[in-house]
This record gives sequence, C-alpha cells and structure tokens, in this order.
Amino acid sequence: MNELSEKNVLVCVTGGIAVYKAVALVSKLSQAGFKVKVIMTESAMEFVTPLTFQAMSRHEVYTDTFDEKDPSVIAHIDLADWADLVLVAPATANVIGKAANGIADDMVTTVLLATTAPVWMAPAMNVHMYDHPAVIRNIRRLHDDGIRFIEPSEGFLACGYVGKGRLEEPEKLTELVGGFFSGTKPLQGKKVVVTAGPTRERIDPVRFLTNFSSGKMGYAMAEAAAGMGADTVLISGPVSLPEPPGVRVVRTESAEEMLNAVLAEYDKADWVIKTAAVADYKPKEVHGRKMKKQEGGQLLELERTADILLELGRRKSHQLLIGFAAETNDVEKYAKEKLEKKNADYIIANDVTEANAGFNTDDNKVTLFGKHAFEQTFPLLPKKELAKRLLTAILEKEDANDR
Ligand code: PMT
Repeated sequence: MNELSEKNVLVCVTGGIAVYKAVALVSKLSQAGFKVKVIMTESAMEFVTPLTFQAMSRHEVYTDTFDEKDPSVIAHIDLADWADLVLVAPATANVIGKAANGIADDMVTTVLLATTAPVWMAPAMNVHMYDHPAVIRNIRRLHDDGIRFIEPSEGFLACGYVGKGRLEEPEKLTELVGGFFSGTKPLQGKKVVVTAGPTRERIDPVRFLTNFSSGKMGYAMAEAAAGMGADTVLISGPVSLPEPPGVRVVRTESAEEMLNAVLAEYDKADWVIKTAAVADYKPKEVHGRKMKKQEGGQLLELERTADILLELGRRKSHQLLIGFAAETNDVEKYAKEKLEKKNADYIIANDVTEANAGFNTDDNKVTLFGKHAFEQTFPLLPKKELAKRLLTAILEKEDANDR
C-alpha cells in the first residue's frame, strides 16, 4: 500500500493501432500502485478485447453507456466521479473532435463531459491527421477548456509514415501521472533567469527606440518556471503586465541595463531564458534636452548595443542558455546560426509572420532547436501553455542527454 494506491486513474481507450500500447500503460499504472479502470470505445475493441484490459487493471471494463451493471448507480456518472484523473490514451482525431464539440455519444465521451477530474489526452494518429487544421483547432479548443495534451512523439508510424504521431511511451505516461499526483517540481533547486519585453533606447528625454514586444511570452516562461519549482528571476523591460506569482522581478529599460541585470544573476543561474526583444541599435548620442524640429530631414546616428546572449554564451560555465529568435524569413536557417554563433543550448524560433503569433499576441507558434539537430515543433498555443510545454520539452531532452 502506498500513497498512489489512493489515486484512481480512469483510462479511456479509443480506437487506433496504438491501443496495444494502452495495454502496457494500464499494466504500468497498476504496477505503479494506482487503481485503474478502463473504458473502451467500440473501435478500440476492434484492436484488443476488453478482457485484456480487465486482466491488466483487475477491474471490469466499461464499453456501453447503457450497460448498467449495478442498479444502485448510473455507471457513467459513477465512473466520472470515481476518477482522480482521466487519461485518454490513445486519443484519436475522432474523440478529440467529439470532445471539442461537446458530443457525448458513447461511454468515453459521456464520461468526459460528466467528470470534474483533470482530463489528459495522449493523441496518436497519422502525421498529416495531427497537422490537419481541424485537429489543431479541436486541440486548441480543448486546451482552452483546460484539457492537457501529452504530445505524441516522433518516429515510425504504423501507417508507414515517419513523423509525429506515436502515442507517448507507456513508461513516460506513467511517470507523468506519478509526477502529477506526487506534485513533482522538476525545476526545484534550480535558479532560472528569464528576460522579457522590449528595451527602450533613449533619443532624448521624450523619445526612444523600441519594438512591439509586450512581454507576454517572457512572463509566461517565468510563470511556468516558478510553477515547476525554480527560484525564478524575471528581468523585464518596460511592459504593463502583472508580476507572475512567486517570481522576483527586476525592472530595466535599455539593453545596457538589461545586460547588467542579467550578469548580476548569471553566476548563480542554472538556466537563462532570453525571451526579451533587445534593441540591436541605440542612438549614438542621447540628447539631454528635447530635440527641436527643424526644416528638412533629420539623421539619427545609431550604434550597436551589447548582444546579451552572445556575451552570456562567451561567459558560459555550467549554465543552460536558451535564446529566442524572432524571424520573418529563413526561420530555421537563422535560428540554427544563432544557436551556433551565440553558443546557446537551445533556440526557440518564432516565425513572426504567422497569424496570431509572435509579438503582442496571446498565442505563439514556435520550433525548438537544440544541438545535434534536435528539433521540436509546437502548434499554435496560448503563451502560458506553450511556456510549460517548452520547459517540459527541454527538461526531457536534458534528461535524455544525461542518460
Ligand atoms: O513579448 P511578446 O509580445 O510576447 O513577444 C514575444 C517575442 C516575439 C518577443 C519572443 O517570442 C521572441 O521571439 N523574443 C526574441 C526576439 C528577438 O529579439 O530575437 P532576435 O532574433 O533579435 O534575438 C535572438 C536572441 O538574442 C534573443 O534571445 C534575444 O533576447 C537575444 N539578444 C538579441 C539582441 C541583443 N542585443 N541582445 C540579446 O541578448
């Protein structure tokens, strides 16, 4: 008997070839000490019989909303209330579509509507299906409803394609469920420094050069890091956002101030995440008085600011250095060049020409590049959710590197 034996995990199995991995998942969850019950859709039963799941979970398997075995309860409500966590694995495009639209036409989708427990979905499907705008739209909707998605991994798919769409491994899913219940804080004991927002480079007392960064992405990164247990310092350019809970905020204005603030934290930092859109140029001369307009044009001579990330890359000892790259073209090429040139460990590339992504938006769509050709693309997501996914992806990659 351990503390996990108090936790009830309801696994909803929907119909795809990855059902065979759901058998291993139910077995691993049971071995880890969870109480596991299984619901199967009709199409899942085309792949594996309920008896297999019954043997693995040591509970009867539910397949039919109208098959009321116990007259003292209504089965789908009873199951929905029983669950501490509902895990849909594999989650097909079909169940994602139905859940996104509130359809309840079988035991799985009815329980998904009836439960108040957290719901996770682990999709598995063909790579083109996963990339289809309808699936992306449905996943987004479910995200907004608070459903957590465990991204499929990349590799050889049963349909013959190689790409993203494999159900996450049962061991990994079991680990995530364990982490969820034990409240694991994977960045506990780490100091994470995040920069956010724009910088302002003064021309005179009333004018400055800046850019459209709102700080939303950087603030989301800081909030996610703190949520994962990191001692988090947020070095912020001028933005008007509320301070994320549990984060120490250092306010800066210019690139130079931001550089000094980051360097002051750098020795003790384990991770530095450079989300800020730092000005590359500043006026060579800062006028002490307001510049007066005059006849004709006006030339403003600019000089380079310090490249903070480049400087951190030069001074790097034990730190993990994560940069961002906002690009309008040749995104991959420039991101990889920055990874190399700035001695970063990861570059998170934004194509800022994408609709509803990049500067001053609530959502973002990025690709994470790492050393040795590591690359992971994320769909358009709310910046807060994306930040969690990015940190988790980096943690997982670092874990894999250590193994
Ligand atoms: O703030 P939001 O409105 O939410 O928008 C988010 C964002 C688009 C600003 C963010 O996601 C992003 O892409 N940030 C990086 C923008 C940028 O300046 O990219 P860059 O390609 O110019 O710089 C590459 C990296 O070097 C960045 O990590 C940047 O912080 C760093 N840099 C750049 C110039 C400089 N002088 N010093 C730096 O440290």
